[in-house]
Amino acid sequence: MKHTMGIIGFGGMGNHHYKHVTEEIDRLTVKGVYDIKDERAEYAKSLGMKAYGSAEELLGDSEIDLVLVATPNNWHKHYVEAALRAGKNVICEKPVMMNSTELAEVMETARQCGKVFTVHQNRRWDRDYLLVKRELESGTLGKPFFIESRVEGARGIPGDWRCTKVAGGGMMLDWGVHLIDQMLMMIDSPVSEIYAQVLNVKYQNPENDVDDNLKINMKFKNGVCAMIEVGTYNMLTLPRWYVCGDKGTMKIDDWGSGADIVYAKDVEMVWENSIIYTAAGPTRTMAPRPRETVEEKHVDIDEKKSVYLFYENVLDTIEGKAELIVKPEEAMRSMKVMEAAFKSSDEGICVKEEI
Ligand SMILES: NC(=O)c1ccc[n+]([C@@H]2O[C@H](COP(=O)([O-])OP(=O)(O)OC[C@H]3O[C@@H](n4cnc5c(N)ncnc54)[C@H](O)[C@@H]3O)[C@@H](O)[C@H]2O)c1
Repeated sequence: MKHTMGIIGFGGMGNHHYKHVTEEIDRLTVKGVYDIKDERAEYAKSLGMKAYGSAEELLGDSEIDLVLVATPNNWHKHYVEAALRAGKNVICEKPVMMNSTELAEVMETARQCGKVFTVHQNRRWDRDYLLVKRELESGTLGKPFFIESRVEGARGIPGDWRCTKVAGGGMMLDWGVHLIDQMLMMIDSPVSEIYAQVLNVKYQNPENDVDDNLKINMKFKNGVCAMIEVGTYNMLTLPRWYVCGDKGTMKIDDWGSGADIVYAKDVEMVWENSIIYTAAGPTRTMAPRPRETVEEKHVDIDEKKSVYLFYENVLDTIEGKAELIVKPEEAMRSMKVMEAAFKSSDEGICVKEEI
């Protein structure tokens, strides 16, 4: 079955979708776009697409059955609801909405309209994340107790709408939402505690008071503790992933570096009788573990998994052949975790809420 998509907001990400859909998804054609900027409309025309004069005109095109909303975040709700009411299926870029109240309203609209509504949480197909998830599911690390996931840049925030609070700028909604979504999909338990520091290191004036560096500590009901960090001013970086289980430790230094894993062998750890002298001075606790008690391995990142498995799933869902992989209810959990993290940071408290 063939489908036709219209894009509202044809900037960097709108163009990314256009390019990959056109190159990779045979049963989906991007017919046209609506963008408030004339130069983006002209660019769309130069690619052979139609540039609609308004969102209403795009939504009134009966050939279009799927709409992608890729505007700055504060416009997501307006366009998603308009598209659903016009009878279209909708993909919204992340963060799905500005807050959980907006999302609840949009989910109700989608229910009333009976249309497919999903979020482009593309980092569920990231290979480093899938590697950690697979290793945890295999049980070889034992029961995880600390999981750290971080992304760190050193350039600050791009000087566009991402620096403006009213447009939904800031790193919580930009990158935090990806890392939170991954963590929630990986740990099969509700979150029970959240403690966060959300900082404005470089954006402190009233118009640009967006968060640019943050850390969130989350405790899940099953006892797993997770830490998420988003940095934009880190000239030196820490590993992308660091996972401690009660049978092993796993580290992924960078997106494509693969994983280093060290498992404790199933042999008794015999403590020396006396103190050991190490680079850390006299200590037995922090001395390296005897080599014969551990097993080391390196796992390469899998071959590239196309993010456009996402589109195949959306189209299959529209055709009634599949269930959405990215469900709005899952996006709702991420929105609530972000709100709890802001509250924790603002009030200096640990938010104890089941999410
Ligand atoms: N999933 C991902 O990996 C990923 C990556 C980058 C951005 N995004 C998301 O995509 C969305 C767009 O980000 P971007 O990087 O493409 O930003 P961008 O600034 O490059 O593009 C936004 C476009 O929207 C247009 N626009 C602004 N207001 C509009 C309005 N009211 N109506 C119609 N068009 C309007 C702008 O003219 C611009 O062309 C954001 O929600 C962002 O969070 C997702």
